[in-house]
Amino acid sequence: MELLPAKRTLSHREALLKAEQSISKIKESAGKDPSRLKYHFMAPAYWINDPNGLIFFKGEYHLFYQHYPYAAEWGPMHWGHAKSKDLVHWEHLPIALAPSEPYDLDDRGGVFSGSAVDDNGVLSVLYTGTIHKDGLLIQSQCLATSLDGITFEKYEGNPVIPGPPADGSADFRDPKVWKHDGTWYMVVGSSKDGIGKALLYNSPDLREWNYAGVLAESDGTMGTMWECPDFFPLDGRYVLMFSPMGMGQRKTIYLVGDMNYTTGRFTWDTMGDVDYGYEYYAPQSFSGGQGRRIIIAWLNAWDWMPWFKNFGPTSKNHWCGAMSAPRTVELAEDGRLEFKPVKELEVLRREHYHIEQTELSPEVQLIPKYLGSDCLEIKAEFEMSGCTAEEIGFLLRSSGDGVQQTLLVYDKRTGTLTFDRSRSDGWSEGTPTAALERTGAEPLRLHIFVDTSVVEVYTDNYRTVMTNNIYPNPASIGLEVFVRGGSVNITSLDVWKLRSAW
Ligand code: FRU
Repeated sequence: MELLPAKRTLSHREALLKAEQSISKIKESAGKDPSRLKYHFMAPAYWINDPNGLIFFKGEYHLFYQHYPYAAEWGPMHWGHAKSKDLVHWEHLPIALAPSEPYDLDDRGGVFSGSAVDDNGVLSVLYTGTIHKDGLLIQSQCLATSLDGITFEKYEGNPVIPGPPADGSADFRDPKVWKHDGTWYMVVGSSKDGIGKALLYNSPDLREWNYAGVLAESDGTMGTMWECPDFFPLDGRYVLMFSPMGMGQRKTIYLVGDMNYTTGRFTWDTMGDVDYGYEYYAPQSFSGGQGRRIIIAWLNAWDWMPWFKNFGPTSKNHWCGAMSAPRTVELAEDGRLEFKPVKELEVLRREHYHIEQTELSPEVQLIPKYLGSDCLEIKAEFEMSGCTAEEIGFLLRSSGDGVQQTLLVYDKRTGTLTFDRSRSDGWSEGTPTAALERTGAEPLRLHIFVDTSVVEVYTDNYRTVMTNNIYPNPASIGLEVFVRGGSVNITSLDVWKLRSAW
């Protein structure tokens, strides 16, 4: 049986009110779950996925997000909304967009992902209206605007781009908009004959859009559909970041190259992975004040990813999904990208432990028990010249009796970093792995952020990042640093307990 587009029964205003009421009823109960994150952003309750509309607007950071405000599972998409003065403490705002119009009201659709721009003081968001008609997917690009940055009106001329060009297909979504030399540009994710693509448009006013061609596309090995494309200038070059479907283990890719605005073509020479973990998807970038480019991503996985089990055990506690810590994106001298946690996170640091020039051998326990916590920041540097250890690692979120533990292990023999969560919590599985760049005598550096149910690991001078979820018991808070098969000199080790941001 084909689903027909849902009938418009509520105005946009009424649909928003109804959504707010649903969240109000459940948020207290959802807020009590001990596995809720303490400094990673989440909705007050129920489902979230992609970050949307990230923007620094009138002195504050705005974060919108894909949201289903009626259950802790994916459903007709709304845009949740929050703002922050420092990227760490977030204030929840009323839900910004709800499905309400013929082009975005649908049981399997809604207000899909998009972006925000400041149009002369008017906060303007472009999103994908998703519906089905006669069993066919219809995705169009739509505009909504706000004068106060909180209440949004959908543009009466919507959709501003009713459907894909001949270069694309019905999968036609996730507009990312920017301004260059007085003209608005938009990149939209699409696909044709199994080839993922980023399509380019331009506009004088965000309302009339002209198709300008294929900005970039897969060479046949880079996925069948490019979700959430993002395009931005960085130190004289351009970066295209996207989330490819059907690219095996790889699910967040960046390309560094040059943009030719005359031909509308982006030519790239460098490719890399934004994150190697199992739960990091759909990163979106924004210019984050102080000349910085910042990205935030959704901390979960889709059912088409090779490692997908389900969306995690928290749904029974009325929430599902969260956002990564904001990371800056910097261009290294060799054309690769570096991703660093924003400095602002340092405000969360509390008790501090520091050692340096300390020999670590098997069976030695260095880290005092009082540092155990479900919220930690760890920075470590190991001297690799003279290292006889075969493996160097951290035991995270350990119950102390071997029942629950997560192992982060660098294997010197294979040069790989593995996040082993087979004993994390009785639910999580798999061993996400990344081959590190570091070689020879170059030190091994790890920068780790642990929050209640997520671990972010930065290494290789911030070129290799790995983000994964785990769901241990609140009491499993043990932390150890260890070696196997030999010893290593710890050049320095810092551990901070972090406080909650809420
Ligand atoms: C990416 C995505 C987008 C889409 C949204 C729907 O995670 O599939 O392509 O707009 O999620 O919620």
